[in-house]
Amino acid sequence: MAIFTYENLVDPMLKIVRQSVVDFTVMKAGNRVLDVCCGTGAQVIEYGRRGINATGIDMDKNMLAFAEKNKSRLKMGNVSFYVADATALPFDDNSFDFVSVSFALHDKPPDVRASVVSEMKRVVKREGALLFMDFNIPLPRNIWGVGANIVEYFAGGEHYLGFKQFKESGGISKIVEEHGLVAEKTGYFKSGMVAVVKANML
Ligand SMILES: C[S@@+](CC[C@H](N)C(=O)[O-])C[C@H]1O[C@@H](n2cnc3c(N)ncnc32)[C@H](O)[C@@H]1O
Repeated sequence: MAIFTYENLVDPMLKIVRQSVVDFTVMKAGNRVLDVCCGTGAQVIEYGRRGINATGIDMDKNMLAFAEKNKSRLKMGNVSFYVADATALPFDDNSFDFVSVSFALHDKPPDVRASVVSEMKRVVKREGALLFMDFNIPLPRNIWGVGANIVEYFAGGEHYLGFKQFKESGGISKIVEEHGLVAEKTGYFKSGMVAVVKANML
Protein backbone atom coordinates (compact mmCIF):
# COMPACT_ATOMS: atom_id res chain seq x y z
CA MET A 1 0.00 0.00 0.00
CA ALA A 2 1.39 3.43 -0.97
CA ILE A 3 2.19 5.73 1.96
CA PHE A 4 2.94 8.94 0.06
CA THR A 5 -0.37 9.48 -1.72
CA TYR A 6 -2.34 12.62 -2.62
CA GLU A 7 -4.93 11.91 0.07
CA ASN A 8 -2.50 11.46 2.93
CA LEU A 9 -0.02 14.19 1.98
CA VAL A 10 -1.69 17.03 0.09
CA ASP A 11 -5.25 16.82 1.47
CA PRO A 12 -4.26 17.12 5.17
CA MET A 13 -1.95 20.05 4.35
CA LEU A 14 -4.73 21.94 2.56
CA LYS A 15 -7.57 21.07 4.97
CA ILE A 16 -7.60 24.48 6.72
CA VAL A 17 -7.60 26.29 3.37
CA ARG A 18 -10.45 24.15 2.05
CA GLN A 19 -12.52 24.85 5.17
CA SER A 20 -11.79 28.61 5.11
CA VAL A 21 -12.76 28.96 1.48
CA VAL A 22 -16.48 28.43 2.17
CA ASP A 23 -16.68 31.49 4.47
CA PHE A 24 -14.21 33.49 2.37
CA THR A 25 -16.47 33.09 -0.66
CA VAL A 26 -19.68 33.54 1.33
CA MET A 27 -21.24 30.33 0.03
CA LYS A 28 -24.51 29.38 1.70
CA ALA A 29 -26.33 26.14 2.42
CA GLY A 30 -28.47 25.29 -0.59
CA ASN A 31 -26.13 26.98 -3.10
CA ARG A 32 -25.24 24.91 -6.18
CA VAL A 33 -21.47 24.63 -6.43
CA LEU A 34 -19.22 22.84 -8.93
CA ASP A 35 -15.56 21.99 -8.28
CA VAL A 36 -13.68 21.12 -11.50
CA CYS A 37 -10.65 18.79 -11.53
CA CYS A 38 -11.72 17.83 -7.99
CA GLY A 39 -9.20 14.99 -7.54
CA THR A 40 -9.95 13.14 -4.28
CA GLY A 41 -12.99 15.40 -3.78
CA ALA A 42 -11.70 16.97 -0.55
CA GLN A 43 -12.96 20.46 -1.48
CA VAL A 44 -16.35 19.08 -2.54
CA ILE A 45 -16.69 17.22 0.77
CA GLU A 46 -16.01 20.49 2.66
CA TYR A 47 -18.80 22.13 0.65
CA GLY A 48 -21.06 19.16 1.47
CA ARG A 49 -20.40 19.48 5.21
CA ARG A 50 -21.80 23.03 5.01
CA GLY A 51 -25.07 21.99 3.38
CA ILE A 52 -24.07 23.09 -0.11
CA ASN A 53 -25.33 21.08 -3.10
CA ALA A 54 -21.87 20.23 -4.38
CA THR A 55 -20.71 18.50 -7.56
CA GLY A 56 -17.15 17.43 -8.33
CA ILE A 57 -15.80 16.36 -11.71
CA ASP A 58 -12.46 14.83 -12.63
CA MET A 59 -11.05 12.74 -15.49
CA ASP A 60 -9.26 10.31 -13.19
CA LYS A 61 -11.46 7.40 -12.04
CA ASN A 62 -9.02 6.42 -9.28
CA MET A 63 -9.20 9.88 -7.71
CA LEU A 64 -13.00 9.78 -7.93
CA ALA A 65 -13.13 6.29 -6.36
CA PHE A 66 -11.51 7.81 -3.30
CA ALA A 67 -13.99 10.71 -3.38
CA GLU A 68 -16.95 8.29 -3.59
CA LYS A 69 -15.60 6.29 -0.64
CA ASN A 70 -15.49 9.44 1.52
CA LYS A 71 -18.95 10.49 0.37
CA SER A 72 -20.39 7.08 1.40
CA ARG A 73 -18.55 7.08 4.73
CA LEU A 74 -19.98 10.51 5.55
CA LYS A 75 -23.44 9.68 4.11
CA MET A 76 -23.55 12.91 2.10
CA GLY A 77 -26.65 12.97 -0.06
CA ASN A 78 -25.96 16.54 -1.21
CA VAL A 79 -22.67 15.67 -2.95
CA SER A 80 -22.14 14.10 -6.42
CA PHE A 81 -19.07 13.10 -8.41
CA TYR A 82 -18.79 12.52 -12.17
CA VAL A 83 -16.05 11.50 -14.54
CA ALA A 84 -15.84 14.43 -16.97
CA ASP A 85 -13.42 16.62 -18.92
CA ALA A 86 -13.11 20.14 -17.50
CA THR A 87 -12.48 21.49 -21.01
CA ALA A 88 -15.93 20.26 -22.14
CA LEU A 89 -18.19 20.30 -19.06
CA PRO A 90 -21.41 18.25 -19.30
CA PHE A 91 -23.55 21.05 -17.81
CA ASP A 92 -25.84 23.73 -19.23
CA ASP A 93 -24.86 27.41 -19.32
CA ASN A 94 -25.59 29.41 -16.12
CA SER A 95 -26.09 26.32 -13.94
CA PHE A 96 -24.09 27.00 -10.74
CA ASP A 97 -23.90 29.72 -8.07
CA PHE A 98 -20.15 29.12 -7.73
CA VAL A 99 -17.57 27.18 -9.73
CA SER A 100 -14.18 26.47 -8.14
CA VAL A 101 -10.85 25.05 -9.21
CA SER A 102 -8.22 24.10 -6.67
CA PHE A 103 -4.58 23.43 -7.53
CA ALA A 104 -5.51 22.26 -11.01
CA LEU A 105 -4.52 25.22 -13.21
CA HIS A 106 -0.80 25.53 -12.38
CA ASP A 107 0.00 22.07 -13.81
CA LYS A 108 -1.64 22.44 -17.22
CA PRO A 109 -0.43 23.81 -20.58
CA PRO A 110 -1.75 27.34 -21.29
CA ASP A 111 -4.33 26.20 -23.91
CA VAL A 112 -5.88 23.60 -21.57
CA ARG A 113 -5.87 26.09 -18.71
CA ALA A 114 -7.69 28.65 -20.87
CA SER A 115 -10.31 26.08 -21.96
CA VAL A 116 -10.98 25.05 -18.35
CA VAL A 117 -11.54 28.68 -17.28
CA SER A 118 -13.78 29.36 -20.32
CA GLU A 119 -15.92 26.38 -19.36
CA MET A 120 -16.09 27.53 -15.73
CA LYS A 121 -17.34 30.92 -16.98
CA ARG A 122 -19.94 29.28 -19.20
CA VAL A 123 -21.56 27.13 -16.50
CA VAL A 124 -21.57 29.69 -13.65
CA LYS A 125 -24.59 31.99 -13.31
CA ARG A 126 -23.94 35.57 -14.43
CA GLU A 127 -24.50 36.84 -10.91
CA GLY A 128 -22.44 33.96 -9.47
CA ALA A 129 -18.69 33.79 -8.83
CA LEU A 130 -15.63 31.77 -9.72
CA LEU A 131 -13.15 30.65 -7.10
CA PHE A 132 -9.49 30.01 -7.88
CA MET A 133 -7.13 28.38 -5.37
CA ASP A 134 -3.55 27.78 -6.40
CA PHE A 135 0.07 28.66 -5.76
CA ASN A 136 0.53 32.35 -5.07
CA ILE A 137 2.80 33.88 -7.72
CA PRO A 138 5.46 34.98 -6.97
CA LEU A 139 5.92 32.21 -4.43
CA PRO A 140 7.05 33.45 -1.02
CA ARG A 141 10.72 33.25 -0.11
CA ASN A 142 10.11 30.92 2.80
CA ILE A 143 10.05 27.19 3.50
CA TRP A 144 6.59 26.87 1.86
CA GLY A 145 7.71 28.56 -1.34
CA VAL A 146 10.87 26.49 -1.54
CA GLY A 147 8.86 23.32 -0.80
CA ALA A 148 6.38 24.12 -3.59
CA ASN A 149 9.22 24.54 -6.12
CA ILE A 150 10.78 21.22 -5.06
CA VAL A 151 7.50 19.26 -5.19
CA GLU A 152 6.66 20.66 -8.64
CA TYR A 153 10.17 19.93 -9.93
CA PHE A 154 9.85 16.28 -8.90
CA ALA A 155 6.36 16.05 -10.45
CA GLY A 156 8.30 16.45 -13.72
CA GLY A 157 7.12 16.19 -17.34
CA GLU A 158 4.15 18.25 -18.58
CA HIS A 159 3.16 19.04 -14.99
CA TYR A 160 6.46 20.82 -14.33
CA LEU A 161 6.39 22.59 -17.71
CA GLY A 162 2.89 23.84 -16.89
CA PHE A 163 4.06 25.04 -13.48
CA LYS A 164 7.01 26.93 -15.01
CA GLN A 165 4.74 28.63 -17.53
CA PHE A 166 2.17 29.40 -14.78
CA LYS A 167 4.90 31.15 -12.75
CA GLU A 168 6.31 33.04 -15.72
CA SER A 169 2.88 34.24 -16.84
CA GLY A 170 1.83 35.65 -13.45
CA GLY A 171 -0.42 32.92 -12.00
CA ILE A 172 -4.06 33.32 -11.02
CA SER A 173 -4.24 37.14 -11.06
CA LYS A 174 -3.13 37.11 -14.72
CA ILE A 175 -5.63 34.37 -15.62
CA VAL A 176 -8.45 36.40 -14.03
CA GLU A 177 -7.41 39.48 -16.01
CA GLU A 178 -7.03 37.61 -19.33
CA HIS A 179 -10.52 36.13 -19.01
CA GLY A 180 -12.16 39.51 -18.40
CA LEU A 181 -13.08 38.62 -14.81
CA VAL A 182 -13.07 40.99 -11.85
CA ALA A 183 -11.20 39.90 -8.72
CA GLU A 184 -13.55 40.79 -5.88
CA LYS A 185 -11.44 39.38 -3.08
CA THR A 186 -8.02 37.74 -2.67
CA GLY A 187 -6.82 35.81 0.38
CA TYR A 188 -3.48 34.25 1.21
CA PHE A 189 -2.88 31.07 3.20
CA LYS A 190 -0.02 28.82 4.29
CA SER A 191 2.45 31.68 4.87
CA GLY A 192 1.66 33.17 1.47
CA MET A 193 2.12 29.96 -0.56
CA VAL A 194 -1.58 29.69 -1.47
CA ALA A 195 -3.68 32.42 -3.10
CA VAL A 196 -7.47 32.24 -3.16
CA VAL A 197 -9.26 34.57 -5.56
CA LYS A 198 -13.02 35.12 -5.75
CA ALA A 199 -13.78 36.53 -9.19
CA ASN A 200 -17.00 37.89 -10.65
CA MET A 201 -18.29 37.88 -14.20
CA LEU A 202 -19.46 41.50 -14.15
C1 LIG B 1 -3.14 18.50 -8.89
S1 LIG B 1 -4.69 17.67 -8.94
C2 LIG B 1 -5.71 18.75 -7.97
C3 LIG B 1 -6.86 18.01 -7.34
C4 LIG B 1 -7.78 18.80 -6.43
N1 LIG B 1 -8.47 19.86 -7.11
C5 LIG B 1 -7.10 19.35 -5.21
O1 LIG B 1 -7.26 20.51 -4.86
O2 LIG B 1 -6.44 18.57 -4.52
C6 LIG B 1 -5.23 17.98 -10.58
C7 LIG B 1 -6.44 17.15 -10.97
O3 LIG B 1 -6.86 17.56 -12.27
C8 LIG B 1 -7.39 16.42 -12.94
N2 LIG B 1 -7.49 16.74 -14.38
C9 LIG B 1 -6.46 16.98 -15.23
N3 LIG B 1 -6.94 17.31 -16.44
C10 LIG B 1 -8.30 17.28 -16.35
C11 LIG B 1 -9.36 17.55 -17.26
N4 LIG B 1 -9.12 17.94 -18.54
N5 LIG B 1 -10.62 17.41 -16.84
C12 LIG B 1 -10.89 17.02 -15.56
N6 LIG B 1 -9.92 16.76 -14.65
C13 LIG B 1 -8.64 16.90 -15.05
C14 LIG B 1 -6.46 15.30 -12.55
O4 LIG B 1 -7.02 14.04 -12.75
C15 LIG B 1 -6.21 15.64 -11.08
O5 LIG B 1 -7.09 14.97 -10.24
